[in-house]
Amino acid sequence: MGHIEQENLVELIACDEVEEDFGAKVEREGAPPLAVFRLGDEFFVIDDTCTHGDASLSDGELFSNGEVSCPFHGGTFDVRSGAACKYPCVVPIKTYRTRIINNSVWIDLS
Ligand code: FES
Repeated sequence: MGHIEQENLVELIACDEVEEDFGAKVEREGAPPLAVFRLGDEFFVIDDTCTHGDASLSDGELFSNGEVSCPFHGGTFDVRSGAACKYPCVVPIKTYRTRIINNSVWIDLS
């Protein structure tokens, strides 16, 4: 089996649909929703549901330092590493390996 076949790529959204400063929510069947963010030319994907409560992080504000603030209680996560940066967020958020293919954002679930 070659390297390519070992990847488990899932297409999420066209790059153009991800605005700067705002997250884009992507629903998936049978799996938790995702939040896609753009920082300059780079794209980052994390779980959409805050680890502190039932808030949608794609509705939060993305700061230029790479942190997104949760719309419920204002805690923050670094969208690049998933680290919880500001209270009351203490549990890291799950991140996904991203690929850009044909102007779309994909994640690699392998
Ligand atoms: S639900 Fe996100 S900080 Fe509380």
